[in-house]
Amino acid sequence: MIHPPQRYIVTSALPYANGPLHIGHLTGAYLPADIFVRMLRMLDNDVAFICGSDEHGAAITIRALKDNSTPQAIIDKYHALFQETFLKAGISFDIYHRTSSPLHHETAQEFFRSLYAQGQFVEEESEQYYDQEAGKFLADRYIKGTCPKCSNPDAYGDQCERCGSSLSPLELINPVSTITGTKPELRKTKHWYLPLDKYESWLRTWVETGVLDGVEHHDPADWKTHVIGQCKSWLDGGLQPRAMTRDLDWGVDVPQEIPGSAGKKLYVWMDAPIGYVSATKQWAADNGKDWKAYWQDPESSLIHFIGKDNIVFHCLIFPAILKAHGQYNLPVNVPANQFLNLEEQKISTSRNWAIWVHEFLNENPDQTDALRYVLTYSPISFAMARCLSLMRIHRS
Ligand code: MF3
Ligand code: ZN
Repeated sequence: MIHPPQRYIVTSALPYANGPLHIGHLTGAYLPADIFVRMLRMLDNDVAFICGSDEHGAAITIRALKDNSTPQAIIDKYHALFQETFLKAGISFDIYHRTSSPLHHETAQEFFRSLYAQGQFVEEESEQYYDQEAGKFLADRYIKGTCPKCSNPDAYGDQCERCGSSLSPLELINPVSTITGTKPELRKTKHWYLPLDKYESWLRTWVETGVLDGVEHHDPADWKTHVIGQCKSWLDGGLQPRAMTRDLDWGVDVPQEIPGSAGKKLYVWMDAPIGYVSATKQWAADNGKDWKAYWQDPESSLIHFIGKDNIVFHCLIFPAILKAHGQYNLPVNVPANQFLNLEEQKISTSRNWAIWVHEFLNENPDQTDALRYVLTYSPISFAMARCLSLMRIHRS
């Protein structure tokens, strides 16, 4: 059945500007979105295809620390590389924006202000690890220690990479700051939380039945089963209030008129998805369009293409933020993809087990369509990814 033309906003996950893109990224979030958007355009729909670099968060500052560089130098380098790579890969974004832009900072602050003014946040004090020598609070990723579940001595404050458990820094045995190697102390700090526990019931109804505020919003049969499955398992586990701010020095400032905002930045998972909105604003300003129609007119459809590690953020947390604001549509679908393997092994940046998209396209400048074809098949056939690595070996 061909639907009558309508307005769509299609997004691909904003990649962290902290390292090059590999074929798994392309396969998971960019190629399928590009194919879908090209089809929508051929059928005369009004489409805005949105992406940009995710330039805040610990992913960036940790890379800067490791490379003995600065966050600004890191994001400038990878933002430029991403723009070039997507162009060469034929990904037809209407805009490729960045979250370090002033327009994004304003947009994200405006969002925060609106939620704050509507009383959507709960303010709470908690104890967090503080590095006295560095003089700052430590993001979860900056703390290492022994995993309470499997005794891995190199677990991070958010996750143990050996046993896969997600952790909180307070659970780590013998925590150490990765910045100075010293033992951090606990200090009190205040943050603004989104009470996800209170939204659990409408989120569940929306995910499971597609009904929102008593109105049928989408057909859950159109959603991938693994996406609904992951949402249900989060919902069954019970949602907790989640802090929307952090004690950091890199990111979007909490609006300064809000009491207690000094030194506080927006949580990167609040800031980054708003990047879809700010990118749309920039595109609209450049092209004489009305950005609000794409995000706020109930006739418009919002669709997020992502990798499976982003499901909770796009199916529960960002929808909760959008609904708390009150004027935005929720996504009609979140087609998340599983991870691509390379020769039956997980792609891994740290083990250098990856094919980098820019390298492949530089070495094989006339093979863009071959790459796209193979990667479009690869989710069902890892043998095709194997062909790709052979192709590369033969050419170099
Ligand atoms: N940078 C994140 C990642 O690579 C994705 C961010 S998507 C957005 O996992 F919604 F937050 F923009
Ligand atoms: Zn472990």
